[in-house]
Amino acid sequence: MGIRLGVVGCGAFGSSFIGLFKKHPAVSRLALCDLSPDLLRRRAEQHQVSETYDSLDAICASDLDALAIITQHWMHAPQAIQALAAGKHVYTAVPAAWTLEECDLLVDAVRRSGLVYMNGETTWFRAEADYLRRRHAAGDFGRLISLDAEYLHDVDHGLREVAQRRFGPGWTLHHSGGVPMHYPSHSLAFPISITNSRVTHVSCHGFVLPGDDWFRADTATGNVISSETALCELACGANAVIREYRRVGHPGAERITRVLGTEASYEEAGGTRLWCSKQGCQPVSIPADFEPLPAALAADKGGHGGSHAYLVHEFVECVRTGRLPRPNIWQAVRCCAPGHVAHESALRDGERLPVPDWGDPPA
Ligand SMILES: NC(=O)c1ccc[n+]([C@@H]2O[C@H](COP(=O)([O-])OP(=O)(O)OC[C@H]3O[C@@H](n4cnc5c(N)ncnc54)[C@H](O)[C@@H]3O)[C@@H](O)[C@H]2O)c1
Repeated sequence: MGIRLGVVGCGAFGSSFIGLFKKHPAVSRLALCDLSPDLLRRRAEQHQVSETYDSLDAICASDLDALAIITQHWMHAPQAIQALAAGKHVYTAVPAAWTLEECDLLVDAVRRSGLVYMNGETTWFRAEADYLRRRHAAGDFGRLISLDAEYLHDVDHGLREVAQRRFGPGWTLHHSGGVPMHYPSHSLAFPISITNSRVTHVSCHGFVLPGDDWFRADTATGNVISSETALCELACGANAVIREYRRVGHPGAERITRVLGTEASYEEAGGTRLWCSKQGCQPVSIPADFEPLPAALAADKGGHGGSHAYLVHEFVECVRTGRLPRPNIWQAVRCCAPGHVAHESALRDGERLPVPDWGDPPA
């Protein structure tokens, strides 16, 4: 029997996964769920899905095997915990958790459930992340020294509209702003996945734009820092420089710009990728297709560098086989918790702070 799967949250991002889950050959039944009846009806019509649920409570009471939760970013951990308690395998969009306390609760819930939990970090399944993981695993860098990764997304490039949509009709200026380092996984997942290591300590510097109309003291977070740069110390001995910038004169990027090792290095600028040794640098071409996909998904892999199809396939395969997913919960908290500590460091003038860790998956 195939997998019976529900997509919870059919908004802007969730809708881009419905077609991929529907096309996956191992998914035998697909259901949709959203709190908005109008949105739910439109998505069901668009994708020709007849099974719908009007709440997480209702879909948790169904006989579905697995839920892909793609709701607003602050809801994921409590909703994942509810779905695991209902016996569902769970995928959530990033971030895995919105506080350090939620990291504790979610890791514990996954461990106790024995079910599959996967976090949908698009960076993990970008072709360049895969390429650099393989070259590191082959020892091609020598010892890793430093990795630079960044998520540059100016607030004027749609982020105001995203915030208003996610908060809905109750949105006011009080909900503006937010903390860049509370959403660090698009950058941090590069060094975490490439090194298979973790951040032990972090120190962070924050940039404040005088008179900023979005990052303001009179908001829910009270945060005035619009761009944050963190220096992360990794357990493997390397370091990672992470940039989470929301005020930046740049078209936008989620990328790894540099990996420096004792024997070789990698650089990317303006779409040109270079592999360097002590003798010089050569352009490298990185294949976009790096792992097998079902033919139905391979034809159009979807957004964020084609990562959507790999994420869908990884979750379905892990539910089907019981294999530990990439990223699993232990990897996922390593991609979000350091950001919370980094912001605390920025508030303390860059003080070097220890980062909690939840260990490795049980054998
Ligand atoms: N590259 C990436 O990985 C990436 C990119 C964009 C968005 N995201 C993540 O995707 C998530 C969704 O973003 P979006 O822009 O689509 O948000 P959105 O507000 O457009 O959609 C969220 C939907 O979830 C629904 N929802 C909330 N609670 C629900 C519940 N209890 N039961 C059923 N439905 C519920 C809402 O009604 C809404 O339609 C965010 O968490 C964001 O962090 C990730």
